Amino acid sequence: MAHLGLIGIGVMGGAFALNLAENGHDVSLLDRSAEKMAEAVQEAKDEGLSGRLIACADAEAFVKSLPKPRSILVLVPSGGPLDSVIKMLKPQLDKGDLIADLGNSNYTDTERRVAELEDTGLLFLGMGISGGAEGARHGPSIMAGGSKASWARVKGPLQDSAAKFEEEPCCDWFGPGGAGHFIKMLHNGIEYADMQLIAEAYGLMSNGLGMSATEIGAVYKDWNNGPLNSYLIEIAAEVSLATDPKTGSAMLDIILDKAGQKGTGRWSVIEALHLGAPASMMAAAVEARNISADIETRLQMEAAFGPSPKPIPKDMAPKKKALGALEQAMLAAKVCAYAQGFEVLSRASDSFNWNLDLAAIARVWRAGCIIRSVFLDEISDVFDGSDEKHLMLSPVFQDYMNVNAPALQAVSSFGIINGHALPAMTAALNYHNMRRTGRSTANMIQGLRDYFGAHTFERIDDPDVKVNGPWHD
Ligand code: 6PG
Repeated sequence: MAHLGLIGIGVMGGAFALNLAENGHDVSLLDRSAEKMAEAVQEAKDEGLSGRLIACADAEAFVKSLPKPRSILVLVPSGGPLDSVIKMLKPQLDKGDLIADLGNSNYTDTERRVAELEDTGLLFLGMGISGGAEGARHGPSIMAGGSKASWARVKGPLQDSAAKFEEEPCCDWFGPGGAGHFIKMLHNGIEYADMQLIAEAYGLMSNGLGMSATEIGAVYKDWNNGPLNSYLIEIAAEVSLATDPKTGSAMLDIILDKAGQKGTGRWSVIEALHLGAPASMMAAAVEARNISADIETRLQMEAAFGPSPKPIPKDMAPKKKALGALEQAMLAAKVCAYAQGFEVLSRASDSFNWNLDLAAIARVWRAGCIIRSVFLDEISDVFDGSDEKHLMLSPVFQDYMNVNAPALQAVSSFGIINGHALPAMTAALNYHNMRRTGRSTANMIQGLRDYFGAHTFERIDDPDVKVNGPWHD
């Protein structure tokens, strides 16, 4: 059994310390708040884990309490706070000691920290951890990156405390440097797209079909028994069915429509653009959150142009049929979101020489994390032991699209005609349409580029030679 250090005993840190303790490991705790550490120690006591959590008065006592070589997990906000912790620890540690960052750090910062610390003989791991406080307590999904030797030092206790899918720990090492944090960032990008699709479906049911929050909750519940089964659909049902204790109204009707974000969705889109990989659904989700945040301008525009969507049409299709189509549209769009996500991962793997195991990534997302679903088991099967290039080209996902893409088209058309904003759904549809267009319209782009800038183009009858067009004779 291991004895680890853990810095940052907030909600997540406290929960993770208890999880490690429950799995038989000793954990030295360090936090600016003695109260939070005392709470964690008390909780451990209450749960029959006395002595496993050790609150330390300061950094010196903390470092001294750990057996050498030391392994220290850090769960503090990424950026400045993490750098401060590293700066504080560095002079007190010995060569071979390990710091592991479990926050949502930008992978480029992780690359920098790995290089800087390894230069001084210390080890550094960048690990994404998903699942919120509940996951941290009872089993998160963990995506690690850094040197393999560093990983070997903490693999045991982390896999013990990670979520399990059919007894397999959802916790793995994926590559050097920032690979783990890159994968966690993309997990969040997909999470953004998934959540935006759920919100768009909610908008179609509420404003398009005139359904109440309770009726909508029942639909999500029903979907959770079918191919859309996932943690996010499950909690969409719970959020829709909740009642505001203050007013007795549906909680959803009381929540201000202004979405927050901390950056991982935006980073995913930026990185995808750098890599030349498609991420239109994540981009749509980030943009929807950005626009939602500016309520004042939305209200001014509503006054200037009239409200959108249009009032519900009288000749609307029967609800049941519409809901069936919506479920199918969601499934097709979800396939597109994951296809894009895995395209980004595959491009990153090639560009950074990470040799990422896409099947293993899908495997650690099957339980514990926010995007967990059975669907990910199917994705891992596609990539397992095969050199399948694109999710949608696998027979299973090809079939998903052939069966469900017509509904995505129908639902998107209904939504657009009636003024619904469906940025993620239509991005999915456009992505699918673009990906299956054998002869695209990029010949026009090439003609224009060559006309104004002599950028050259290739001819379809001689693609190996770059030529100019007859524009300026
Ligand atoms: C998780 C979550 C978690 C958090 C993100 C996204 O995997 O447990 O992704 O990391 O929800 O920070 O938060 P925002 O929506 O605020 O960007």
